[in-house]
Amino acid sequence: MKILVIGNGGREHAIVWRLARDAGGHELYCAPGNAGTAALAANLPIGAEDLPAIVAWAKANRPDLTVVGPEAPLCAGLTDLLEAEGLRVFGPSKAAARLEGSKAFAKEVMTAAGVPTARAAVFTDSEAAVAALGDFGLPVVIKADGLAAGKGVVIAQTRAEAEAAIRDMLDGGRFGAAGAEVLLEEFLEGEEASVFALCDGERVALLPAAQDHKRVNDGDEGPNTGGMGAYTPAPIATPEVMGAVRDQVVLPTLRELRRLGVAYRGVLFCGLMIGPKGVRVLEFNCRFGDPETEAVLTSLEGDLAPILLACAEGRLDPAAVRVLPGAAATVVMAAPGYPGAYPKNLPISGTEAAEAAGCVVFHAGTALREGRLVTSGGRVLAVTARGADLRAAVDAAYAGVAKIHFEGAHFRRDIAAKAFRHL
Ligand code: AMP
Ligand code: GLY
Repeated sequence: MKILVIGNGGREHAIVWRLARDAGGHELYCAPGNAGTAALAANLPIGAEDLPAIVAWAKANRPDLTVVGPEAPLCAGLTDLLEAEGLRVFGPSKAAARLEGSKAFAKEVMTAAGVPTARAAVFTDSEAAVAALGDFGLPVVIKADGLAAGKGVVIAQTRAEAEAAIRDMLDGGRFGAAGAEVLLEEFLEGEEASVFALCDGERVALLPAAQDHKRVNDGDEGPNTGGMGAYTPAPIATPEVMGAVRDQVVLPTLRELRRLGVAYRGVLFCGLMIGPKGVRVLEFNCRFGDPETEAVLTSLEGDLAPILLACAEGRLDPAAVRVLPGAAATVVMAAPGYPGAYPKNLPISGTEAAEAAGCVVFHAGTALREGRLVTSGGRVLAVTARGADLRAAVDAAYAGVAKIHFEGAHFRRDIAAKAFRHL
């Protein structure tokens, strides 16, 4: 198949890498891609948010399938534009992507569908929101409705913090239009997990659960990041939990969307809190997660492209989605200073040695300068390994990390520590 992948992070490198391993191979393109995808696909000089240029390329080159990585082009309607040209797309329509693009819409759908989630209320007026704080107790969660690059959630420990966050978003225009509506939400206790549900509008296949590591330092300390590592399967997501995710979360959500005239085709990323009250949805995303995808896609058995195409065409056979035994772990190596300001263009060495030792080194923020691999982002590499069990996968990933060098590289040393507490 001729396949176009949209995006330029570790997630997109993992998608391209997995497609390249399908039996028979494919003709792969990535827009814009990175130094990692360049080894497996033709990188196109087209930005992931340049919808007119993507559509023009697709009209001229007629890919059999387009796989959209990030949320911004999905929420902007890239799928609708390509489908209007008679092209197949893995990734939800603009209307379906609102599950990520509007947290208020996601709450409405979940409430109508009876999906377990935190109690919430939506406000456009700061006085009304402040007046409602008493209904939620402390801590309370305050969320901007729209896309805010992962920064639109505040967990307020005090009433003063909560009021400041509300006023900042609704009166101060902190997130622009994305913060013109604000949700107050009940704080949920428990442990988080990410489950990717492949959907064709009606049918669902769950991929094994993963856990992200959001904070920059070991022990979940320090500021938030885009994700410092992941592993799969997550033992917290027992078979009972996975059954609840399918039957109480994903299937009712798809049913409610169909009632609204919307077919969700693509991956529905369920951000879950698993706690004393069972499984509850923290958020939906309309795309694969990063860095969970780097671990999860290395665990897939068989060919990926036919599964994605079947989702796009509304004919997914969930039994065709099979998973390898064992486990996978991903350790993100970040630039010095990340998630604050960081330098670029630091030369990277040792990726071949890590791959020779059995890792897959996914590129997140890299570039080729005069033939040399250098850093070009905050999260630089997502070093991934599989193993017969989680301990073996984690050890193999860290053995790969030890072979890679760039000045000031930092990474968490406790990826999957939570899992070992459960096992
Ligand atoms: P979201 O973008 O909605 O997933 O929120 C980002 C992060 O905030 C989540 O990954 C959780 O760590 C945390 N969070 C969001 N909502 C809640 C909640 N209701 N209770 C506790 N933590 C939350
Ligand atoms: N790993 C979390 C996300 O991709 O949003």
